Amino acid sequence: MKVAFGADHGGYLLKEEVKKHLDERGIPYEDFGCFLEESVDYPDMAVPPCKAVLAGECDLALLFCGTGVGISMAANKIKGIRACCCSDVFSAKYTRLHNNANALCLGGRVVGPGLACELVDVFLDSEFEGGRHQRRVDKVMALEK
Ligand code: RB5
Repeated sequence: MKVAFGADHGGYLLKEEVKKHLDERGIPYEDFGCFLEESVDYPDMAVPPCKAVLAGECDLALLFCGTGVGISMAANKIKGIRACCCSDVFSAKYTRLHNNANALCLGGRVVGPGLACELVDVFLDSEFEGGRHQRRVDKVMALEK
């Protein structure tokens, strides 16, 4: 399991907190920035970590902006990405189990580091259930065509 990180300035500090948490858990990751609180555009920051997932270099992406919404909108425009912006544990779990989400988007101005780490844990530790959900995910992906 390897994680791809991406954030804009609004998500930078939360990204750093979640990286510390993954360090403690011994989960490897690659950080595609940003690396400062200087203003950057979230669509630009979504692309490199999502491409790393699509290339098979990383398994899942963790994306951060102020709300988590903008970077999730950008990520979901990238073919093959199923990004979920959420701030509750139930959604973070079921978006893996049922939607086979490959990117979790969190808002640095919405959730604190404690909740963010719980959301990340449940997202990383849950597996897609397949079965009837595969058919539905296939239909979602067919909408890209
Ligand atoms: C940047 O100020 C902010 O708009 C961005 O981080 C994000 O919240 C957009 O959805």
